Amino acid sequence: MIIISGSASPKLSAQVASLLGAELVKAEVRRFPDGELYVRVDAELKRKSVAVIQSTCPPQNDNLVELLLLLDAAKDLGATRVIAVVPYLAYSRQDKRFKPGEAISLRTVSKLISQSGAEELITVDIHQEETLGNFTIPAFNQTAMPLIGRYLRGLNLRDPVIIGADQGSIKRATKVALELGAEHYFLEKRRISPENVVVYPKDMNVQGRDVVMVDDIVSTGGTIIGAAKILQQQGARDVYVACAHPVLAGNAAQRLMDAGIKQIIATDTIEKDVSVVSVAPLIAELLK
Ligand code: R5P
Repeated sequence: MIIISGSASPKLSAQVASLLGAELVKAEVRRFPDGELYVRVDAELKRKSVAVIQSTCPPQNDNLVELLLLLDAAKDLGATRVIAVVPYLAYSRQDKRFKPGEAISLRTVSKLISQSGAEELITVDIHQEETLGNFTIPAFNQTAMPLIGRYLRGLNLRDPVIIGADQGSIKRATKVALELGAEHYFLEKRRISPENVVVYPKDMNVQGRDVVMVDDIVSTGGTIIGAAKILQQQGARDVYVACAHPVLAGNAAQRLMDAGIKQIIATDTIEKDVSVVSVAPLIAELLK
C-alpha cells in the first residue's frame, strides 16, 4: 500500500502511513499564475494499491480539484487499486433538493470522485450515512465519536451530560455518551438562513454539570452558540463542543470562545489547532 498525501491532509497522511508501515508519497502541488492547479505524483505506482488522502475542507473547490487530479494521476501511473480517502467530504450537507432547481451537490461530487479513478471511497462522519448510496463505487464511513468519547474521559468532567446539537446528532451523542457512561439529550433546531439558527429549549438536568455539545460539523458556530446560551441559562457549569469536522468558517472559533465555550474538541479530518483526536487509526483499519 502506498499513501499519497494531498496538501490538505499532510499530518493525517503521515500518521496513517506510519500505522500501516506504508510508503508515504507527498504529491507536488503548485499553482499556475492564472490560479489553476498543477499536480505531480513522482512515484512508482505500477501494480500497487494506492490510497490518496485529501480532505475537501476550505478552500473546498481547490481541495476537491486537487483530489480529482491526484486520483487520476495515480490511476494513470498504473495503480491497480486506487482508494479515495476523503476525511471531510465537502458538499455532503446538500444531499437532497430542498427547493426546486437546486443542485444535489453531494451527488455531483460523488460522480466526480467515482469518475476520476477511485475504486473505493473512505470518509469519516459523513453528514448522513445513507447518502453514501450516491456513490457508484463502494463507499465506507467511519465514525470518530467513540474516539472523541475516550478523549473526553481524560478531561475528568464533572457529572457530564452529552447533548446532540440537533436531531441529526442523536446517534453521534449516543456514541460519545456510551464511552463516558453519561446521560445524553438532543436539541431541536431550525435554520432560518445559513447564518441564523434557532434552537428550542428543552427541560434538561444540566444544573452545575459539565456539558458537551456534539455535532458532526462546526461551521459558522451558529448552532452551537444558540444551544450554549440555553444550556448556560439552565445552569450548566462548563460547556464544551466536540465535533468531527472543525470547519470553523471565518471567526467562528473566536465567536465560540466569546460565547463562553470552554474548549473545542475536534478531529484531524480538518487539520486545525483544535484537532486533538486523530482519525488515523480508523482510516488505517479500513486500509489494512
Ligand atoms: C447540520 O445539520 C450540521 O449537523 C451542523 O449542525 C451544522 O452544519 C453546523 O453549522 P453551523 O456551525 O454553521 O451552525
